[in-house]
Amino acid sequence: MAQEDRLEELARREARVRAGGGEDKVRKQHEAGKLCARERLDRLFDPGSFVELDRFVTHRCTEFGMDRVEAPGEGVVTGYGRVAGRLCFAYAQDFTVIGGSLGEMHAAKICKVLDLAVKTGAPVVGLNDSGGARIQEGVLALNGYGQIFYRNTLASGVIPQISVIMGPCAGGAVYSPALTDFVFMVAGTAQMFITGPQVIKAVTGEEVSLEQLGGAQTHNRVSGVAHFIAQGEDECLAQVRRLLQFLPSNNLEDPPRLTPSDPPDRRAPGLRTVIPEDPNKPYDVRDVLTPVLDAGDLMEVHPLYATNAVVGFGRLAGIPVGVVANQPATLAGCLDINASDKIARFVRFCDAFNLPLVTWVDTPGYLPGTAQEYGGIIRHGAKVLYAYSEATVPKVTVVLRKAYGGAYLAMCARSLGADRVLAWPSAEIAVMGPEGAANIIFRDEIAAAPDPAAARREYIQEYRAKFANPYVAAAVGFVDSVIDPQETRPRVIEALLALLGKREDRPAKKHGNIPA
Ligand code: HXC
Repeated sequence: MAQEDRLEELARREARVRAGGGEDKVRKQHEAGKLCARERLDRLFDPGSFVELDRFVTHRCTEFGMDRVEAPGEGVVTGYGRVAGRLCFAYAQDFTVIGGSLGEMHAAKICKVLDLAVKTGAPVVGLNDSGGARIQEGVLALNGYGQIFYRNTLASGVIPQISVIMGPCAGGAVYSPALTDFVFMVAGTAQMFITGPQVIKAVTGEEVSLEQLGGAQTHNRVSGVAHFIAQGEDECLAQVRRLLQFLPSNNLEDPPRLTPSDPPDRRAPGLRTVIPEDPNKPYDVRDVLTPVLDAGDLMEVHPLYATNAVVGFGRLAGIPVGVVANQPATLAGCLDINASDKIARFVRFCDAFNLPLVTWVDTPGYLPGTAQEYGGIIRHGAKVLYAYSEATVPKVTVVLRKAYGGAYLAMCARSLGADRVLAWPSAEIAVMGPEGAANIIFRDEIAAAPDPAAARREYIQEYRAKFANPYVAAAVGFVDSVIDPQETRPRVIEALLALLGKREDRPAKKHGNIPA
């Protein structure tokens, strides 16, 4: 064969793979409001930077007529490229090719990029759009999933792993995203579920639509399976790019530091009045966070789930940090099962990837009730204690207002290893709130008083004056400094910079056993 012919054959083969499942399938994909795999990768990566691997891999299945089925690219496009100039691996399932279903060789392509990502210490992004295990391939397809789960687990804590759901993700296929660090879903076109509506109806009689069962709203608001929701694929992939820019490429690197454009010594006078005079009045903790962070930029993780806590990424003096806060605007900022899970998982991610933690405390305690107790608030709440105690990254805590009881400890108190604890003058650090405390310790005096209600009010006031302030904790060094709220940004940045060289060793062990 002449060289010219060889090159022509290569071009023909490449064009065949690039065409995916063909015009009809591509049209169907677009009509469904979805982009094709390569279009998605073009949006994820810096222009022209994507390098495709394994373009010519084919399946080896001969059952059920599969010997006559061509599957260009094996239904998945894999490779690597640059996101804001930094290396990143990715795979994008191609729904136009046998519904993006996963067979033995499709899985092998994904495993190859996972292995390369770990070896080179670069993040991996999976764009999921698939009918699940390729039914014709039987156990070989199942084994493929198992190999991916195994690699997701070994890569956990080594490289950031991001899953983006852009179509169906059904059955056991959902467990790869669940094993990764962050799950994005596109509203309206993404679904995740273990068993679909038909199976649910047959087994339990329950009727539920696909969207209600496993749509983006459900997993962002109700189940907490997804961390981010996007209106459309462009927005979704832009969000993925934004997230990656807060993260180091692997666990041995520090997160990427930008030259700060926002002056580190900038004061925020509005913080002096952000907390209402009445200690029982709510406010939005994001009104504290954004004036403190560089350029007011906070990328919230799980913004719609367990909204009584706020977690997310921001920068201080150009340094990416993990932010954890109680949210008094929801459930008064109580800690409950879902907020505990949200916080613990986020704290562990930050610790694994060298992101300093800045914790903002305003919580009256754990949410009371049988629903919480029966749901296991004890073991869920314990995860927060575990995650903070285990974390060796710099830990700065700012007590804004209420910090009572076990929840005070859980929100990274000094005893859980906080390296610096700052408090606003409005901080109330005590074993419980003044109302509850007065009822217990002055019970007999209140009962014996001629006007018990007035006596109760007086005792509450006495307790508040004595204990509902930051100075009792500051007197024993549990709080390092009580600060003027408008100085919060410069003070937190100063603390953070002083802690950047922190080294903390722990006894060697195989691994811990976090309560689950
Ligand atoms: C083989 C599949 C497939 C699959 C879809 N296709 N899923 N082929 N194995 N799992 C094929 C279809 O036959 C069709 O081929 C093409 O892909 C497009 O699918 P459509 O049905 O036309 O698309 P749509 O109407 O959009 O419906 C999408 C869908 C549906 C909801 C995902 O295809 C579906 O229900 N598929 C089966 C889902 C499923 O039960 N998967 C197994 C889950 S269990 P043609 O030739 O007609 O274009 C699982 C276990 C994993 O995954 C376990 C891991 C531990």
